[in-house]
Amino acid sequence: MAMLYQPPTRLAILAVNSVNCRNSAQNRRYAIAIGGKRSYISLMMHESTMVAPSADVVLPTTPLPHELPAAITALKQQMNAVILAHYYQEGEIQDLADFVGDSLDLSRKAAATDAEVIVFCGVRFMAEVAKILSPDRLVLLPDLRAGCSLESSCPPDQFRAFRAAHPDHIAVTYINCSAEVKAMSDVIVTSSNAVAIVNQLPADKPILFAPDRHLGAWVARQTGRQLTLWPGSCIVHLQFSERELVQLRVRHPGAEVLAHPECPEEILAYADFIGSTAQLLARVKASPADTIIIATESHILHQMRKAAPDKTLIGAPGVDGSCSCNNCPYMAMNTLEKLYRCMISRSPRIDLPEPLRLAAAKPLQRMLEMSAAINPAALTRKD
Ligand code: 13P
Ligand code: SF4
Repeated sequence: MAMLYQPPTRLAILAVNSVNCRNSAQNRRYAIAIGGKRSYISLMMHESTMVAPSADVVLPTTPLPHELPAAITALKQQMNAVILAHYYQEGEIQDLADFVGDSLDLSRKAAATDAEVIVFCGVRFMAEVAKILSPDRLVLLPDLRAGCSLESSCPPDQFRAFRAAHPDHIAVTYINCSAEVKAMSDVIVTSSNAVAIVNQLPADKPILFAPDRHLGAWVARQTGRQLTLWPGSCIVHLQFSERELVQLRVRHPGAEVLAHPECPEEILAYADFIGSTAQLLARVKASPADTIIIATESHILHQMRKAAPDKTLIGAPGVDGSCSCNNCPYMAMNTLEKLYRCMISRSPRIDLPEPLRLAAAKPLQRMLEMSAAINPAALTRKD
């Protein structure tokens, strides 16, 4: 069994069925997935090695079926549910989803769905957007703790003060924020449509941009507008190392570099193409380069490899020279098991007070109207 723990093999404990047995020990049976194959092991644990559940930890009690993907697909039919997934979700979740997309496309899908239930595999602000735009649907999120560093960098009280200090400014807010912050904004943007929306704003009006200062700075460079930036950032896109990226480019002289605009300027300076996740995916398909270096969260490589199986795709490195740092810890909170359990139990669900929902819907609807012509898969070149 020791070989099971050797990298790069991925070991996932999928199910826990426990039975008490004699001598104060517990015999736990775990379903283990290794390289896509599933088998079972039993572990004996003496009670001295077991951790008592604390009050804030809810141990999963729903037994898991042997074939989770098939069970999830069957549940989806029974519930009349649609599974929406962001490109940063793990590959097995992306493969089960009815639709995988970037923030703009996922908002559009959530607003237009006929399904009774939206199961959102992404982070909480994305599921909130689905609820705001589709209030009559039951919206489920496998793990409610799936937040976002940008959202937590911008508490509503501080944002209110920011707005109050700039009363003549238009507040343009990145979709990666709480419903409360959306409700205080004039228009919401995603990385797909931020430039196009800012370009439509009256030239004589000053603009606030929150909460991502790197995306905001990029939008300012692209539009020539002066933006007053909130000092937030994405913890994932901060991890890339300029020094390691330069060395990687030297080792792959013909490689094209693609980057998400949440990256700091010193990384974007090396990019041949900058865009949202959907735009980066489209560029991978369209690029004439055989080797492509990608500076964004690593799970999008799952779709990129499917889209361009003959190309060499390399995740941009962090300071240690590897790309293991560019996983979003919030996105990773959703797992196949939690997805199944949230569908079975119809929880955790997203609910918002109606006045808040209505206030947050206004700038979101404005975004959808102002970017109706935008196809995230359309390519925009870096200046
Ligand atoms: P997009 O998919 O809209 O590019 O957003 C990236 C992101 O960081 C989502 O959290
Ligand atoms: Fe937030 Fe960054 Fe994770 Fe996206 S990748 S959810 S911006 S922390």
